[in-house]
Amino acid sequence: MTVTADVADARTFEGVDLDVLATKIQTPFYAYSANAIRGRISGLRSAFHGLDLRICYAVKANSNIAILQLMAQQGVGADIVSLGEMQRSLKAGIPAACIVFSGVGKTGEEIGAALDAGVWRFNVESTDELALLQRIASARGVTARAAVRINPDVDAQTHAKISTGKAENKFGVSIDEARGWFAAAASMSHVRLDGLHAHIGSQILSLDPFREALRRVDDFRRQLEEAGHCIASVDIGGGLGVAYRRGVDRPIPIEDYAALVRETFADFGGTLVLEPGRYLVAEAGVLLTRAIRVKHGTDRSFLVVDAAMNDLLRPSLYDAWHEIVPLHDRSGTARYDVVGPVCETGDTFARDRALPTCEAGDLLLIGAAGAYGASMASTYNSRPLIAEVLLDDGRYAIIRRRQTFEEMIAGEQLAQAWHET
Ligand SMILES: Cc1ncc(COP(=O)(O)O)c(C=O)c1O
Repeated sequence: MTVTADVADARTFEGVDLDVLATKIQTPFYAYSANAIRGRISGLRSAFHGLDLRICYAVKANSNIAILQLMAQQGVGADIVSLGEMQRSLKAGIPAACIVFSGVGKTGEEIGAALDAGVWRFNVESTDELALLQRIASARGVTARAAVRINPDVDAQTHAKISTGKAENKFGVSIDEARGWFAAAASMSHVRLDGLHAHIGSQILSLDPFREALRRVDDFRRQLEEAGHCIASVDIGGGLGVAYRRGVDRPIPIEDYAALVRETFADFGGTLVLEPGRYLVAEAGVLLTRAIRVKHGTDRSFLVVDAAMNDLLRPSLYDAWHEIVPLHDRSGTARYDVVGPVCETGDTFARDRALPTCEAGDLLLIGAAGAYGASMASTYNSRPLIAEVLLDDGRYAIIRRRQTFEEMIAGEQLAQAWHET
């Protein structure tokens, strides 16, 4: 379901009455629709029908193990960026052979553990990392499969903090540098370099940057093949944007994206890899929160809710816009700054937003919160980690209960035992 402003519609999500759910689970909490996620996966599959395609879900978007279990059940692999994400994926049933390992800062420990687990591919992002991969694989007597992450120097036309494919960004290497890697590949006894990878950014709403980046990747792929190199896979990353703001954000129709990929890689005989994160889960999730109070300031009215920036960071971090829908029918409207209880001015979900008049105790829904929501949550201001619930055909399952105070401080201790270094 995409969240609608129609209160009657918004109240029921995946066949579950949210008012009733919020009497059973204390707000704030996230609720995700399993069917919405399945729908996105099958839509993606049918758009790419007939191609040799692997979908590796970007775990960072929502790393709850129940979401990863859903991906595993649908035959979706994982794109990971840390050992923790690998362990989550394996625990949820995603086979190591369906995991790609991306990230600019892989450590020796992480590379070793990923080799031991048998991950499918390393998306390598620097010369230093390539040399480290060779050393660690050699010490273990195994061959690592690797793709070079290319930085195609394309402006993804998205928020600067989620743009990754410009030369000034830390990600990937230039095509010239990658060419040198392939020239030297024969001397790498324990790395099989036979893949290309590019991910230019997130929440991309225009085909143009994809067109330009994919063209550069494919031109390079042809040059490599003409020079006699085998390219077994091209990983085109994630980045597909979603509709946070109805009528304003116009996501790329998936068929158009698939048509571009088909056309660009028409004569490529290997495997294409997609790493969608946001596209699969963002619109499948909502954040339920209750109004604590309405505070009338000198300048404006504040609707203080029980969710905060530690639960959903996107508005504070990226000035992201999320739909906010009060789930009551009270008549009249008012303008509010919708804020959380955290002691930061940035703890603001919306500014000067026109909403149906609200009172303390009202339940509100924050839309399209399934990606980069719970996975970015923290305990800032000593607020325990938020709960998460999965909804499926009228039923619900708690997939993360709210953290207790004891769990929140587990690992901390009073300074009693002092050691000399
Ligand atoms: C390497 C890589 N692949 C895929 C993704 C997923 O991006 P999105 O959620 O926009 O699809 C990211 C996001 O940062 C990424 O860094």
